[in-house]
This record gives sequence, C-alpha cells and structure tokens, in this order.
Amino acid sequence: MENTTGTIRLGSENFEFPIIEGTEGEKALDTRTLRAKSGCITFDEGYGNTGSCISDITFINGEKGILRHRGYAIEELAKHSSFLETAMLVIYGSLPQKSCLSAFRKQVRESASIHTGMHSHFDGFPTSAHPMAILSSMLNSLGAYYPKMSSNNREQDLAYFDETAALLISKVRTIAAMTYRMKMGLSFVHPAEKRYTENFLHMMFSEPYSEYDDKHGAGKALDLFLMLHADHEQNCSTSTVRMVASGGANLFASVSAGVCALWGPSHGGANMAVIKMLEEIHAAGDDGSKFIEAAKKGEAKLMGFGHRVYKNYDPRAKILGKSAEGILSSIGMNDPLLDIARKLEQAALEDEYFVSRKLYPNVDFYSGIILKAIGIPVEMFTVMFAIGRMPGWIANWKEIAENPKSRIHRPRQIYSGETQRDYVQLVDR
Ligand code: CMC
Repeated sequence: MENTTGTIRLGSENFEFPIIEGTEGEKALDTRTLRAKSGCITFDEGYGNTGSCISDITFINGEKGILRHRGYAIEELAKHSSFLETAMLVIYGSLPQKSCLSAFRKQVRESASIHTGMHSHFDGFPTSAHPMAILSSMLNSLGAYYPKMSSNNREQDLAYFDETAALLISKVRTIAAMTYRMKMGLSFVHPAEKRYTENFLHMMFSEPYSEYDDKHGAGKALDLFLMLHADHEQNCSTSTVRMVASGGANLFASVSAGVCALWGPSHGGANMAVIKMLEEIHAAGDDGSKFIEAAKKGEAKLMGFGHRVYKNYDPRAKILGKSAEGILSSIGMNDPLLDIARKLEQAALEDEYFVSRKLYPNVDFYSGIILKAIGIPVEMFTVMFAIGRMPGWIANWKEIAENPKSRIHRPRQIYSGETQRDYVQLVDR
C-alpha cells in the first residue's frame, strides 16, 4: 500500500512520513510516529480529517455521492439483493453462494427466540423508557446468556463468531419487537417460520386473535430500509464499536455501545427528529419556507439534511425518496408529510445557504416516512436503524478482532486545564 512519502516541516526541521494509498486512490499521511520524532501530535477534533483504520468493508466518495459495500454499488444491491444477503456480503466480504445464504437464513430463523430468563428484564423498565435504552441494555445482557461467545478472550470469541453474528442479527429484531410490545402493554409474540422482516412485523403486530397480514408489501419495503442501513464506514456508532472492540471487548458489549452512540439526534436519532420536524411544520400550516428561513438564521436545523462525508446527494436518500412514493401508493395512503418533505428538499436544493454549504438530503430524510407508512411508531425509528446497522457493526468488530496488529484505540488530547497547584486543606479554603 505504501508508495511514496510526505514531509511535515516544524520550525526548521523536516519530518518524513509514508503516504498510504487505498484501492480507490485515497491518500493519507501516516503520522503515527510524529510525536516520537518531533514531540508534536496532530489535532483534529471531530476526526473530520483523520483515518482511524484501514478497512476493506465500505467505500464512500462523498463528493461524488458513491457508496459501495465490498465493491458493490448500493444502487445495484438495492435493486437485486436483500438485507440478509447484504449482511453476509458486508460481514464475510463476498456475495454468498445459494447454499451458504440458505444456511445463514436458517441459522438466523432458528436463533430468533430470546431466553425466557430475559423476558423478566423487560418488566424492570418503565413503559416510558426509550426503546434505544432498552435495546442497548438487552444486547449487553444477551451476552450474559452466552458466556462462551462473550468471553473477552479474542481467540474464543472469534471461534464462535459465525454463531454470534447470526444470533445478534436475529435477536436484535426480536428484542426490538418485544420492546415495542412491552411499552404498549401487549403480550410478547413468539417468532414464527417466516422471512426476516415478515417475522419482525409478525412479532410486532400479530395478535392471538389475528395474524399480521402483510397485504401492502411492508416486509419488502422494510427489507430495503434495513439493507440501505447495513453499513456506512467510520460513522459515530461504528467507530464506537471499533473503539470498544479495540480494548478486547466481546461482540455483544461492542454492539451494545454502538446502539448508545447511534441514539443521538445528530446520528441515528435524526430519523425520529425528521418526522417530528415535518409534523411541526404541518401543524403550523407552514409549507416549509418559514422553517428554511429559521434554519438559515441558525434558529433551527433542517433534520435529515447535511452529512460529514457526503457533499452531494446521499445515494441512500435517492433510493428511499423513490421507494417512499411506492410504499405510500401501495398502501393507498396520502401522507401530507411526504409533500412537505418534497417541498423542503426542493427549496433547500435551490437555496444559496444550502447550496454553498453542500447540504443535501441524507438517509434519514425519507426513511421516517416509509417507517411511518409501515406502522412503526416514531419512537422505534432509531431502533430500526440499529437493526439495519447490525451487520456493519459486526463486520467492523471482526476486522478489529482478526487483525493481529490491532492496538487499543487511545487518542491523545491537548490539555487546557490548570497547571500544577498545591492542595489546600478544607479548613483553609
Ligand atoms: N441544517 C442547517 N444548517 C446545517 C445543517 C442542517 N441540517 N447541517 C449543517 N449545517 C450548516 C452548519 O450550521 C454549518 O454552517 P456554518 O458553516 O455557517 O457554520 C455548515 O452547514 C457545516 O456544518 P457542520 O456542522 O460543520 O457539519 P458536520 O459535518 O459537523 O455535521 C451533521 C454533519 C450530519 C451532524 C449535520 O449536518 C447535522 O446536524 N444534520 C442534521 C442531523 C442529521 O440529519 N443527521 C443524520 C446524519 S446522516 C445519518 C447518520 O449518520 O446517522
């Protein structure tokens, strides 16, 4: 990978460093030895210019709006693949053979139940608890039921990796459905012999007296939603998973931390915030123009717009924007929020403020409209993102765990506090 070098000049001294080049031509100055050589560290709060790892999983070109998993364009995957097939691609690196995919589907289907000991954990939460708080706690607790797979002994955790990966992809969906039912005061619905998303909808919405009937293709729409969220390189939650994994933590603990990182409104929580924003705009009788003006003045944020990496249309938003129309028309639903979203998008794409800052719709802009149409309550939206992102977290954990050279992630800081002081006894203060 190394081909050439770059020089940093500090005062009158030159320091030379290798330049690393990725397979898509991205270049990075490898400054790992800078402090040892010069006493200086690099400062990059928010990591906008820092490569934290070398990864084979996902490629993004934010300027061109390109997203590829293991070399396959997201548009192709959205057209031909499914969530579980893309999960295998993201985790294992290649498109699976038919027999492997069938075996994986079977393993996921057979791992869907949650140990009955865990059912009582749900009773410990108030019904007002946020589903993301429940999800992260439950995923970490889950590890306690599988001690062999969550040993924090790298070799052992890796020996059980395939089983753990299928188990987490399966059970995250069961826990999500159970969380919803607990909050609604409904009894849990056991998983059935169904495909991935259909089983999820069954566990969410079936009742003892009536089985959920997916007559509008909600399962298909949900599969696309999950697939489009499968991985997105070094975002906040994935970096968190890698950070936790770098200390040697098991996969359950690492993805549980990922859920916490995803929760915030600048990251996965944005899908909830978008719908709340659209509802407020609708309730205020605004067509979006007042909101745009407020965002320009810094009084509001246009949720679902902007991205650290994309300085062009997020390709996932393009796909979801189109499929939102499809699912609404198949349900025969006319959601005024979709019209507001379209108007907001159009206005922002023509407005100097958004154009000059290269702010485009991101994945969260249309995803909430789809989830709402399927009948998922707004509070569960970020949980849906977490189900979709599970393969990416697992793949990134694997990359860290399998790398014999991987080191604990331990950034440095610039200390800006008090310099040394003498302790003052309590009586003298
Ligand atoms: N509405 C209005 N102005 C914005 C927005 C927005 N959504 N996003 C960025 N800006 C402005 C920002 O105020 C700044 O203006 P100025 O240069 O005048 O100070 C400029 O654009 C650059 O923004 P930034 O804050 O430096 O961008 P960032 O890379 O630090 O943040 C972001 C990226 C995604 C956190 C931010 O765009 C944002 O908060 N967007 C809304 C929340 C959202 O939709 N998040 C989901 C992200 S995609 C899915 C995921 O990662 O989970």
